[in-house]
Order: sequence, then structure tokens, then C-alpha cells
Amino acid sequence: MEERTLAVFESEPIIFALFGNPVGHSLSPLMHQAAYREMGLNAVYVPFCVRDLEAAVRGIRGMDIRGVSVTIPFKEEVRKHLDEFEEGSGRIGAVNTVVNEGGRLRGYNTDWIGFVRDLKEWMPIQGRTFGVLGAGGAARAVLFGILSAGGKPVILNRTAARGEALAKEFGCSFLPLSEIRALEADCLVNTTSAGMAPQVNRSPVEGRDLDKFTWVVDIVYNPLETKLLQDARMAGCHTGSGLGMFVHQGAEQIRLWTGAEPPVESMKRAVRQRLEKNEKN
Ligand code: ATR
Repeated sequence: MEERTLAVFESEPIIFALFGNPVGHSLSPLMHQAAYREMGLNAVYVPFCVRDLEAAVRGIRGMDIRGVSVTIPFKEEVRKHLDEFEEGSGRIGAVNTVVNEGGRLRGYNTDWIGFVRDLKEWMPIQGRTFGVLGAGGAARAVLFGILSAGGKPVILNRTAARGEALAKEFGCSFLPLSEIRALEADCLVNTTSAGMAPQVNRSPVEGRDLDKFTWVVDIVYNPLETKLLQDARMAGCHTGSGLGMFVHQGAEQIRLWTGAEPPVESMKRAVRQRLEKNEKN
């Protein structure tokens, strides 16, 4: 009898969740399910459009949810409901990943890791200078990533006060966005939402200001090639979309939740195919 109970218990699916509001357009469920299928894990990843965050976090313990991805608008707020944090999430001030260790909830930020992993696949970071466009939450993850990997960031922001405050906090320099021509940097990284669907004709920077950068990265992945990246490609720069960062932040979540190595290329393929299909329609 005892053996039978154990067998049933072992066949329980592992539950992962996404907490956000809204979540209908998220590509995380597609990406995670693709990974678990290939890994042969008996796991499901469920998107929840959360209305009461505190109750939802209680549900992680109550329903023994193994891990949760946290997205807009809860990345900052979720912290006050958790038990402990890894260093990056503290410095960035945002949690995008919760790990449930037997009822103790630990907050992580895998956005910065995703950014660094993707960048390292195609450009060096150590000792290079990066112009970072924007001073919001996404900029904080990118700045932490660049500094952790030995790069030198310079913040460029439209609103000087916000950019200066962030530069002071992270111990880096600041330049008003209007003075981008004075910037000497190897790589330009866009962390603003300018150019994200449906505003696909927008770019935070004039095309004529791009040719001095060897590399231009946009953390936006929808569309796959933003106006900024189109302009950068025309200006002869190497370009990288936000797809890689998105996939690598998800892959790191899977490592934290399962301890196993996720199939990064299959995850990337699944997300790319869906984005290409959406762009055609
Ligand atoms: P998130 O937390 O997702 O990064 P956010 O906090 O709204 O988003 O931050 C958006 C950042 O993008 C801000 O730094 C904003 O500049 P301001 O501080 O001047 O508002 C920047 N941003 C947004 N749209 C922009 C645009 N069209 N051109 C330049 N900067 C833009």
C-alpha cells in the first residue's frame, strides 16, 4: 500500500507558473513547455493573470508550485512577500524568478544573467564600453549585467534627473540622450520600449548616430528586428535582438527550478517561430 502511494506521488506533475497582469501575450508558456517536453519532464507551466499578489504568493506554498516567473507589473512588489533574495535581485530591485524550497520562497533576477549569456555568445564584454539607453527597470538589470561581466556602462537618458540618479547608484557615468554624438562606446544597448510592437516605426536614436558603434543590441524582441536594429544594420554595425536575452533568462529559471540543463536552442527556435508567424499576420 505504501509503495503504491509513493508511485502515485512520484507521478505528480511539477508545477511552474507565470504571475503577471496581463499575461495573454506572453511567450514564456510556449518557451517553457517546449523545454519541458524535450527534457522529458512531467511538468506544466501555467500563466496566471494575478489580481491579488499576496494571495497568489500564498498559493505558491499552498499548491506546492515549484517555481514562478514574475513579470509586469509585479517584479518590484513581489519582493515584500518573499523570504530571501539572491544578490542580483537586491541590487536591481526586481525579482523575475521565485524558487520554492520546501515552503521558503527565494527571489532571483535572471534578466541580467540572460543579457550577459546572450551577449557573450557574440561579443566581448570585459573592458568594453556600453552606452545604455534608458533608466527604468530594464536598464537596471542590463547595468548590473555589464558591471558583473567587467564592462563599463554609460547611461543615456532623455530625462537627465532620472539618468543621473541611476548613474550615481550604480557608480557609472551619465550623458543626456541628446548628446549621444559625444559618446565614445563600443556597443549601444537599448533598454527602452521605443520600437516595441505595435510602435514598430519608432527608435530612440537617429540612424545617423549609429555608425560609430561596432555593436548595437536591443532588448526588445517583438519585432525581432526593431527600427533601431534595421538602422544599425544599414550603418554597418553588428546587431543583436532581445530574443537571446529572453530565452537565456528563461533557461536560467529552468536551471534554478530543476537543476537540469535546458535545451536553449529548441527554446529559441520555438519563440522565434511564433514571433515570425505573428509578424507575417
Ligand atoms: P522599464 O521599467 O520597463 O524599463 P520604464 O521604467 O517606463 O520601463 O522606463 C522606461 C525608460 O525608457 C525611461 O528611461 C524612459 O526615459 P525617461 O526617463 O526620459 O522617461 C525611456 N524611454 C521610453 N520611451 C522612450 C523614447 N521614445 N525615447 C527615449 N527614451 C525613452
